[in-house]
Amino acid sequence: MNIRGKKVLLRAIEERDLPLLHEWANDPEIWDFLDSWHFPLSERDGQKWFEHLSEKSLDQRFAIETPDFGLIGTANLVNINWKDRNAFHGMMLGNKNIRGKGYGTDTIMTVMRYAFEELGLERLDGSMIEYNEASLAVYIRKCGWKEEGRQRRHYFRKNKFWDRIIVGITRQDYFQLIESNKYWDKRL
Ligand SMILES: CC(C)(COP(=O)(O)OP(=O)(O)OC[C@H]1O[C@@H](n2cnc3c(N)ncnc32)[C@H](O)[C@@H]1OP(=O)(O)O)[C@@H](O)C(=O)NCCC(=O)NCCS
Repeated sequence: MNIRGKKVLLRAIEERDLPLLHEWANDPEIWDFLDSWHFPLSERDGQKWFEHLSEKSLDQRFAIETPDFGLIGTANLVNINWKDRNAFHGMMLGNKNIRGKGYGTDTIMTVMRYAFEELGLERLDGSMIEYNEASLAVYIRKCGWKEEGRQRRHYFRKNKFWDRIIVGITRQDYFQLIESNKYWDKRL
């Protein structure tokens, strides 16, 4: 069952998405801002990753699609913990031309609605590199996440160590947010 936001649709990743995902997976400008890292990935690596995707039910990865631009990025809910009712969430917009137009906010709002209103989770975890101003703006200022801690000198990028900012949101925070910003009531 696909997950609908106001501007984006979150759907399963399909084999036809692999060429774009492969391009984004090797784009250093995108990965400078992401939590994890990897060596250059071949198309075969991408194919193998895709073939094993559906085996991991506790790691859900979604394609972000819009009517105007098609596939624009990916979002995930991983390390889903059904007992403690939490999960880790991350996302990226691979299509850089559409940044700053609200697609990031809508993706996070949609993931939160799914996590809290459909899966019944209690909290979501996230993290970001201290220099990721866009991510801090969208998660904390626009989507109600809270900074919950900081791991010093956690990432090594561009010959320097950087802090990891730990963020999170509870279901109570989410319901307070949508009560105050009326996100789902407002039309586009
Ligand atoms: C972070 C990311 C998801 C944001 O998506 P987006 O579609 O550009 O976000 P939105 O348009 O919904 O909102 C962005 C907000 O951040 C603000 N913003 C953007 N860049 C900023 C910056 N460098 N400093 C401060 N604010 C910034 C925008 O002004 C906007 O706020 P506004 O609507 O009040 O003007 C996207 O840039 C991305 O995928 N980046 C690369 C990967 C990444 O960093 N992923 C997150 C890892 S934790």
